[in-house]
Amino acid sequence: MLEVRDVALKEFVDSHHKSFDDDLAALRRANEEEGVPLILAETEEILSLLLSLTSPERILEIGTAHGYSALFFAKKLPAAHITTIDRNPGMIDFAKAEFAARKEGERIDFRVGDAMEILDELVSTLSGADESQKFDFVFIDAAKSHYREFFEAAEKICTKDALIVCDNILLKGWIVEAEGKAAKRHRTSIKYMKQFIEYLRRRDDIEASILTGGDGLAIIRFINE
Ligand SMILES: C[S@@+](CC[C@H](N)C(=O)[O-])C[C@H]1O[C@@H](n2cnc3c(N)ncnc32)[C@H](O)[C@@H]1O
Repeated sequence: MLEVRDVALKEFVDSHHKSFDDDLAALRRANEEEGVPLILAETEEILSLLLSLTSPERILEIGTAHGYSALFFAKKLPAAHITTIDRNPGMIDFAKAEFAARKEGERIDFRVGDAMEILDELVSTLSGADESQKFDFVFIDAAKSHYREFFEAAEKICTKDALIVCDNILLKGWIVEAEGKAAKRHRTSIKYMKQFIEYLRRRDDIEASILTGGDGLAIIRFINE
């Protein structure tokens, strides 16, 4: 559904992407060659800027895959602690191996299981906790039909100044137009993602920016009066 011009622009942006280091460049290449899901180069650029501006100390990620984005967070912010969640048996051992192979992996707490169950555990541990123990940056990049649940759990364990970033908000453009097989196959995700965007718009206690960068991002902060 992307126009030729959009593809050319995307390729241009990707070709100018500067990896954080050679290790991440090689990991990106390997993930892309193996068809492992990972953040797009443009998404990484936007995240990189947000991380530089906010310098979070405790990051929560929902959706680890082989660990690329978690390692990016850990490398970019050498003092940060990252908690990342995935339930997919096809991903878990690979992610564990990538974390074990690098010193940054020592700052990554990999929680294996369904995100909602793990989020519920984190909510019980952290909801009454001091701000200094809560997450100050959240990256939601997992089951596309569950963003609202992920968001509502995450906000209970965030600091008041936290940023919550949701990836794939535009679902490869299917959010506005899906045809044939894509329309059928992804109809549930499309329906729930549209509802999630409307939900963000209705909430007057948050500021939510919906961007077309990468595969579409929602960047959310809480309005603290
Ligand atoms: C797009 S990938 C994550 C990519 C990763 N953030 C990166 O950029 O390297 C999404 C991951 O979310 C996981 N996932 C989806 N739904 C989940 C759920 N309900 N609980 C835990 N993990 C989930 C999938 O197994 C998959 O590995």
